[in-house]
Amino acid sequence: MHFSAIARIPGDSILSLMDAYARDPNPRKFDLGVGVYKDAQGLTPVLSAVKQAERFLLDHQKSKTYVSGHGDVAFGRLVSELVLGKDSPLLARERAGATQTPGGTGALRLAGEFIAHCLPGRGIWLSDPTWPIHESIFAEVGLKVSHYPYVGSDNRLDVEAMLLAMEDIPHGDVLLLHACCHNPTGFDLRQQDWQRVLDVVKRRELLPLIDFAYQGFGDGLDEDAWGVRLFARELPELLITSSCSKNFGLYRERTGALIACTHDAEKLLDVRSQLAGLARNLWSTPPDHGAAVVATILGDPQLKSLWADEVEHMRSRIAQLRAGLVEALAPHGLAKRFAHIGEQRGMFSYTGLSPEQVDRLRDEQSVYMVRSGRANVAGIDASRLDELAAAIAKVC
Ligand SMILES: Cc1ncc(COP(=O)(O)O)c(C=O)c1O
Repeated sequence: MHFSAIARIPGDSILSLMDAYARDPNPRKFDLGVGVYKDAQGLTPVLSAVKQAERFLLDHQKSKTYVSGHGDVAFGRLVSELVLGKDSPLLARERAGATQTPGGTGALRLAGEFIAHCLPGRGIWLSDPTWPIHESIFAEVGLKVSHYPYVGSDNRLDVEAMLLAMEDIPHGDVLLLHACCHNPTGFDLRQQDWQRVLDVVKRRELLPLIDFAYQGFGDGLDEDAWGVRLFARELPELLITSSCSKNFGLYRERTGALIACTHDAEKLLDVRSQLAGLARNLWSTPPDHGAAVVATILGDPQLKSLWADEVEHMRSRIAQLRAGLVEALAPHGLAKRFAHIGEQRGMFSYTGLSPEQVDRLRDEQSVYMVRSGRANVAGIDASRLDELAAAIAKVC
């Protein structure tokens, strides 16, 4: 038999959590596990701007032939403008270009392949903790993965420890940063922190790879790009991965981009030739539908404005849920202990609950979250905040 030595590996822990949630007969259960945005009805809706763009495409799309290795040209330009700013000098000087990828995950994988093939010997440094897929994706391409501290044992962002550790990163290594809405913690760098990280990056000649998966979910579409744009202005070279899964609600359409920034237009052509070659062996050419939707939206002022309003609506709902949960915890004497939930950004919160407390919440209260204590705040039903706060108080 060919397959007899193949063992079973454990499934993704979030997917097993989703299964356990689905099996739980309790009608008052809470799903704070999986990382998708949910509206007041508990649904992950198709945005109106997306529906309108899809109708337009249905009527006007003339062909389903392959797009190029870098994807749709309009998508690449518009997503680069969204990330770097419409007036970015990098775009004017053709120092930045996007390669369309299957989601942000595809962009990260392509970045990993690029580093492994074109920058041999470079290690990559991830925040501790980080999104678990960062750990596996870069290990998978053969990069040496190391960590810098990010959140201390007191569940607070420890900028000093982070900067101190960055001073020891070998020259030329790759530094992965989350642009905003850090997954899993929700703790983001402040502007002065970005500036200090930039100083270390320059001094140690590191190559930043910025993962931008939640643009618009933190403080706003432009506000969330502050650190990315600072680095793009100040550094000759930079890699950025952008995901359209959350802010366009296009999760299953697998839409994203790897944006390479180089110190001149000539070098961009070299880098992009390598990226197209690597992508050819990964997925050949990227999936089109989501990117065509994004290009349709961003290329039409009315649709773009409708979409920006929808992103703002999702962003403010998450901010209100954060504030509401802290308020609901107050009568239990827990407002101070969980004040950080109101300060964090994006869908996720490192609550500070221990794995044992998470287990008890699941077993005794039907509240589902990952064992690290990460809760998807965007998964909460606003009308049930008091109920959730009471459940948390029972295990604290
Ligand atoms: C930090 C981070 N990066 C990248 C991604 C990639 O998202 P996708 O591949 O769905 O676009 C995610 C999704 O959860 C994420 O949390």
